[in-house]
Amino acid sequence: MNTEKFKKIREKEYPLANTCAYLDTATTGIFSKSSRDAMVDFIEKRYSEGMDIDDFLGNWRHADNLRGTVAKVLNCEEDEVFFSGSGSDMLNVFSSGIKLKEDANIVTTALSFPSTPYNWINRVGDENVRIAASENGMLPSEKLFELVDENTAAIALCMVENTSGWYHDINTIGEFCKARGIYLVIDTTQCIGAMKIDVKNTHIDFLVATSYKWMSGTFGISFAYVSKRVLNEINPTFVGWTGNKDRQNHSRYKLDLEDGANRFETGSLNWVGLRGLDQSMQIYLELGMDDVQDYILGLTDYIYEKVAELRDVSVVGPFPRMNRSGIVYINFPMEWKLNDKILRQNGIRAHVANETKIRLSVHFYNNESDVDKLISFLKSLQE
Ligand SMILES: Cc1ncc(COP(=O)(O)O)c(C=O)c1O
Repeated sequence: MNTEKFKKIREKEYPLANTCAYLDTATTGIFSKSSRDAMVDFIEKRYSEGMDIDDFLGNWRHADNLRGTVAKVLNCEEDEVFFSGSGSDMLNVFSSGIKLKEDANIVTTALSFPSTPYNWINRVGDENVRIAASENGMLPSEKLFELVDENTAAIALCMVENTSGWYHDINTIGEFCKARGIYLVIDTTQCIGAMKIDVKNTHIDFLVATSYKWMSGTFGISFAYVSKRVLNEINPTFVGWTGNKDRQNHSRYKLDLEDGANRFETGSLNWVGLRGLDQSMQIYLELGMDDVQDYILGLTDYIYEKVAELRDVSVVGPFPRMNRSGIVYINFPMEWKLNDKILRQNGIRAHVANETKIRLSVHFYNNESDVDKLISFLKSLQE
């Protein structure tokens, strides 16, 4: 693969990446210059000119247009996409609205970001949420399947687990769910914009993505995919003016929801955030989704390779290559007493997750020199 385009985009769009080893996209991605400009322009215009009704409604035209871009990213139809605030809000759309049998149970993982188990506990109770155990950050699909029985309504998980970087085998899990009529609910927050996602060729029923990590977006703007297979099985828990057909007509009160996924939108969206997200998606699509994934996994391989050269540091796992993602955890000796601040003082942005583990996360704006910088710092601690 020609990596020149990644070098160029780093220089042009992500100046911060040139000033430190930014290995912390799993916390928040760096804004591109284009995203920043689009968001600042929006704020400046509102500040200096205000906003009339035509501009206000123009925001919806922008959102409707962006649905098409999201559809390209996920390989779905435009009317299977909706926007909302946080990724966690969006998970609730499915868990609170889906029709379930009385004894339904849900299977999830011990590596999950809490929003996934929490919204299911809220719906079916602690006793009906089954949590598959992990070992050393790994959780092969069989561990999930063992917990499934005839009352399992859904498998709900994060495609890439933020607590270890484990990348689930969604194709196999999707096939398993399809064969048994089990819903598959996926949070892609820790991989959207990094790992290619193809909802048409993977049996996913509901997918959410918050935008402030590999999509380099701001907070409070997320998007979701709802498969047409399940759309009518979800009763919207919340409704509002924007999810109704003919959203501009306020002359009658007739609840007549949109036919597509935008029926789950209730009110005005984070227009500033959407302007930024639009730019991020353009950059991502221009770089090419396959190339981005290959480039990121190449950097992950490089971390594995370089860490193996260190005496006192090791990779958590190590994971089979098919389960690797843009997130890698490494073990370090407790006596080093590392924290995020110490790393930052040494020009490295990464998250010290606990007394012996650092979470590293790489994006297309990283390169091998970022990894080298981290490795030489760790080497200096070994001496
Ligand atoms: C997998 C996952 N989902 C959701 C979130 C939070 O997203 P939001 O704040 O938009 O709810 C995070 C944050 O780290 C996450 O890792």
